[in-house]
Amino acid sequence: MKIAVIGTGYVGLVTGTCFSESGNYVTCIDIDETKVQRLQAGEIPIYEPGLEEMVKRNTKAGRLMFTTSYEEVIPESKCIFIAVGTPMTADGSANLSSIWKVAESLAPLLPEDAIVIIKSTVPVGTNRKLAEMLKSLTGREVDVASNPEFLKEGAAIEDFSKPDRVVVGVSRPEITDVLHELYKPFLRTEHPFLSMELESAEMTKYVANCMLATKISFINEMANLCERVGADINQVRRGIGHDQRIGFSFLFPGVGYGGSCFPKDVSALISVANDREMVPSILNAVDQVNTAQKRVLFEKINRFFEGELAGKTIAIWGLAFKPKTDDIREAPALVLIDQLLEAGVSKIKVHDPVAMENVRAEYGDKLSYYDHHYDTLDGADALAIVTEWNEFRHADFDYIRHKLTQPVIFDGRNLYDPAKLKARGIKYYGIGLSSEK
Ligand code: UGA
Repeated sequence: MKIAVIGTGYVGLVTGTCFSESGNYVTCIDIDETKVQRLQAGEIPIYEPGLEEMVKRNTKAGRLMFTTSYEEVIPESKCIFIAVGTPMTADGSANLSSIWKVAESLAPLLPEDAIVIIKSTVPVGTNRKLAEMLKSLTGREVDVASNPEFLKEGAAIEDFSKPDRVVVGVSRPEITDVLHELYKPFLRTEHPFLSMELESAEMTKYVANCMLATKISFINEMANLCERVGADINQVRRGIGHDQRIGFSFLFPGVGYGGSCFPKDVSALISVANDREMVPSILNAVDQVNTAQKRVLFEKINRFFEGELAGKTIAIWGLAFKPKTDDIREAPALVLIDQLLEAGVSKIKVHDPVAMENVRAEYGDKLSYYDHHYDTLDGADALAIVTEWNEFRHADFDYIRHKLTQPVIFDGRNLYDPAKLKARGIKYYGIGLSSEK
């Protein structure tokens, strides 16, 4: 099948590449000329395990192309995926201007039997509006579909290739078969292909992300409470997770969720509810808890130093919003850095395996950057861990104790066993641990 994918961000690039891997002819369109040139040369603008090899393999095989030209691609395409960004506006709603711009560029070039599919996360009603817009621009009914994406950064290829489910919303039942055919190579037994109305598919995406964000804020609130009553959230987590109705996933307490999706989608759904004169109490609370949680690590550090942070040196391990990505959007590490700078620390020594350049672009020489995490420790008064990269999990505690001016670790991801650290003479503060009381 001939496929066009518009937008070569996370979702667009992964979608296009995976569809080419399953034998389709895919052309990815982006208005950014430099990005397109880089992609044509096999340079990937994001860090995503396995993506670079897959792009190179399919480009070489002639199944994956990149261009800035709609004219070259759209008239030949059966399925046209829109995967442009829908960033958060100042009032929390989703900014859809890129979607409408794409629709205007597409309309005059659309073949009769093409299907226009929105993969970007868009609020309810957007697909219906797109259908109306395309009808008024072309003078005929155009098939549209909503096909939300559930992939996680850092595991994008795996998630796309082995989806738990595929959800499509369709403007006409006949479209379902075409999309089912396209997704067939990725469907496994007991992992369904679900066809529904446009509005339900649009809501599914938001409800899924908001449910996951709710789980995280809930466990973070319980972790904070555990600290105050002398309970241990890790034990409580085990205690509840074995109840199959609750389960274990997405119940790791930490420094709050970040990234480009949860914060944006929770705000957008709040805004959708407000527009319909509904107060979404749970979503509002999820957002508030998360904003507060991003400040928890700083509060612990500040309390430890009794408010005397001026002149201190703090080492930070992990800057990306989660491991296996270089994405620092809404990353809790940035909140900690801002708070430490505001408190007047003299030096912040940072390391992240892949996100360092993105942080350098934002903070420049306000921070000191180190290629190895152990090199941040020299002369530091404390170590703060913000992202749970695997390389931090087995640390040399004797070395850490020896290097820090006073041996104290503030761990926003509960990587270590508090008893073990205590035995090694290191003070240890995690999230929701009984030792915090
Ligand atoms: C999320 C969803 O998981 C995907 O299904 C969805 O497709 C995607 O958003 C999207 O809408 O595009 P992603 O933002 O890549 O994916 O990252 P997650 O792995 O979901 O993590 C989000 C945040 O939650 C991270 O900051 C992570 O540290 C935090 N988290 C996650 C916790 O604090 N505790 C947990 O138990 C799990």
